[in-house]
Amino acid sequence: MEQVLKDLITLAGLTEQDYQILQDSAAHTQQWTNELTQAFYDTLYGYAPTSHIFKPGERPDRENTLITWYREVSSGRIDMNFWRRQWIVGLVHIPRRVTDPFMIGMMSRVQQLFLKKCLETFDLEQAMTVFGAFKRVTDVVTGLIAEGYFLSYVEATERMTGQSRALTERLVGLEISKMTEEMRKHITS
Ligand code: HEM
Repeated sequence: MEQVLKDLITLAGLTEQDYQILQDSAAHTQQWTNELTQAFYDTLYGYAPTSHIFKPGERPDRENTLITWYREVSSGRIDMNFWRRQWIVGLVHIPRRVTDPFMIGMMSRVQQLFLKKCLETFDLEQAMTVFGAFKRVTDVVTGLIAEGYFLSYVEATERMTGQSRALTERLVGLEISKMTEEMRKHITS
């Protein structure tokens, strides 16, 4: 997890200054919590593949989860435990069949709504500054959830079968070469 976090932070260009920007704008951005949460779940409940994921009566719990998450991100008080919790979101999503495309699509929506609110609230320069900080932090979150999902999935299968990572990587490499050939055959250029 630490190396994945380091890679994401370095490549996305996230800095301590971004945390400060989020802290300084939190009084404004936290006013958007409810609107953002409503838009989030209206979208998920309005689309059959994602609405099927939820159990009857679960919406208030899920809304509270997102409210807590958004308050934490927008507070700019981001430490190692915050990042560790994002990694675990990927694991928690696996048994509920919350795939990465669902998660990434919704993170995109959160970012777009956040940008719209920034443009309505701040002057253009300030809006881009606040959005840039939020975008970098939430992109790193996206990467952690996605990689937490993927690596934990692989690790769970390895634990079940007792197969080592080295063997998995070797066998996957061989199988993927065959699959690539097969797929290319079906694509007409
Ligand atoms: C921006 C994208 C998302 C973020 C940041 C996010 C965040 C979270 C967080 C913080 C939790 C609680 C994790 C824990 O208990 O430690 C959670 C759980 C959950 N999320 Fe997401 N989520 C996202 C997208 C989605 C989507 C798209 C769906 C459904 C299609 C979804 C469905 C769920 C469900 C059902 C749980 C409860 C899992 C359980 O406790 O059984 N999430 N999510």
